[in-house]
Amino acid sequence: MDYKAYISEKLKIEGTDKSEIYSSLALPPASDMGDYALPCFKFAKILRKSPQTIAEELKNSFVNDEVISEVSAVNGYLNFKVNKQKLADEVLSTVLKAGDSYGSSNNGAGKTVCIDYSSVNIAKPFHIGHLSTTVIGGALYKIFKFSGYNVVGINHLGDYGTQFGKLISAYKRWGDKKDVEKRGIHAINELYVRFNEEATEDMEAEAREYFRKIESGDKDANELFEWFKKLTLDYVKGIYDKLNVRFDSYAGERFYTDKMQPVVDELKQKGLLKESDGAKIVDLEPYGMPPCLILRSDGASLYATRDLAAAIYRKNTYDFYKCLYVVAYQQNLHFKQVFKVLELMGKPWAKDLVHVAYGMVSLEDGAMSTRKGKVVWLEDVIEKCVQKAYSVINDKNPALENKEEIAKTVGLGAVVFGALYNNKIKDITFSYDKVLSFEGETSVYVQYTCARANSVLLKSGNAFAEVKNYAPCEQEAEVIKSLAAFPEEVTEAGEKYEPSIIARYAVDLAQKFNKFYIDCKILTAEGDAKNFRLALTKATLQTLKNALSLLGIGVPEKM
Ligand code: ARG
Repeated sequence: MDYKAYISEKLKIEGTDKSEIYSSLALPPASDMGDYALPCFKFAKILRKSPQTIAEELKNSFVNDEVISEVSAVNGYLNFKVNKQKLADEVLSTVLKAGDSYGSSNNGAGKTVCIDYSSVNIAKPFHIGHLSTTVIGGALYKIFKFSGYNVVGINHLGDYGTQFGKLISAYKRWGDKKDVEKRGIHAINELYVRFNEEATEDMEAEAREYFRKIESGDKDANELFEWFKKLTLDYVKGIYDKLNVRFDSYAGERFYTDKMQPVVDELKQKGLLKESDGAKIVDLEPYGMPPCLILRSDGASLYATRDLAAAIYRKNTYDFYKCLYVVAYQQNLHFKQVFKVLELMGKPWAKDLVHVAYGMVSLEDGAMSTRKGKVVWLEDVIEKCVQKAYSVINDKNPALENKEEIAKTVGLGAVVFGALYNNKIKDITFSYDKVLSFEGETSVYVQYTCARANSVLLKSGNAFAEVKNYAPCEQEAEVIKSLAAFPEEVTEAGEKYEPSIIARYAVDLAQKFNKFYIDCKILTAEGDAKNFRLALTKATLQTLKNALSLLGIGVPEKM
């Protein structure tokens, strides 16, 4: 039941419509104050009364019923307590009936969201820096799908530029076909690094020539390029499978080769293109930004040119409601410029483009150095986390079956959750011990809570009768309230592009459940209490599973 809708339906405030009342209803800071609170301060001006008077008048005119058990007016707030018994009945039957779809909605029906994320660069290592874009984008993908949107995941591959000329040149010089076939991206990355270390003027010139050959359709150069691209994609797809993320399109920068000229023409026709030292730019000085470079003096296009073409292509192809770019905050200026240029071109949908910026991830031991050749590959981070998860599990429960499988789910979960738990804009330091702790704010803690719930249910034979009108104790009521909040948390996470809301929710629910688990006996309780507690356990397990699955994290049955 949507209690906020229920309450706002029953409140009449002159000059304020229901939807405004709805969105003003909030959770009070302390739960003893009530379950919902309406701050009356903003109505004071229209009604010409003090907030406290308004709250009191609203309280007096509110007709109590069995859904709301208490209304109070305190310091300009109107507080509501919902009937705990009703709430419990309602929540448990809703969660258990909905199962895997609890928390889903049709909020996004008929709307398409494009999400540009992960967007890897061909022949470059996939390092811990790519973790955030991949898992934040992957989680947003699932959250929007769950909320009823049509979602298009786009991997805007970095497959355009002079570096591919260098790569071909390096391969021709030192490459060994067998080695590249065997070691894939690692081998080509080494060739690329070596080229940069040893490059002379002549080699640079040769690389430019190879790049020109790719561009002009030379067969040999293009075959090599496509091969390197395939090796990179084979490699990253292995990682995507592990992290549970998927893409509907791999249209990268090169895809826009023939779609940039029309953009340049349109800019020219709209009087936006200016000459500057032989280059073509869009002047953004009036908006306090450096110019957006469209064509270099040699006629070559730029990263921004391809992003302009890509945005227009996406609008024409998908008619998106929003187009998100999950890219590090280092590219803030780039996206501000691109969005501004589209606005100046008169695209009304420029306002629907969103740069979902996130902070840096570094490894605890400082190993994430971008210096040549000294990168930590993401696959190694994952591997190490899975190994450590194995030893943590083995210490805790040596007799466990399937330890290897479980360690995979736990280790991968820890990598993903570690990158998602904090507000996305924060810089974070990744620590293996921290993300694998059973006690901290971790996926391991949440997964362990699930295993605990699962074991209770197994011992009970997974059988319990439906209970009505049971009066929950405080610990039970806290779990109920948290379960009831899940659908709203999902909506908020989507609206704010913030998967950490769901990660934090999962930890909070797990903590409340564990408090209940420790304070209240479940299996040795009797009658209604036992049935109610088992239902609560099952509903919690279901909700935690749903929350983790939105983040791309699985739940082992035992741990
Ligand atoms: N490949 C780029 C990089 O690694 C990210 C691309 C982001 N997407 C975009 N449409 N510009 O920096």
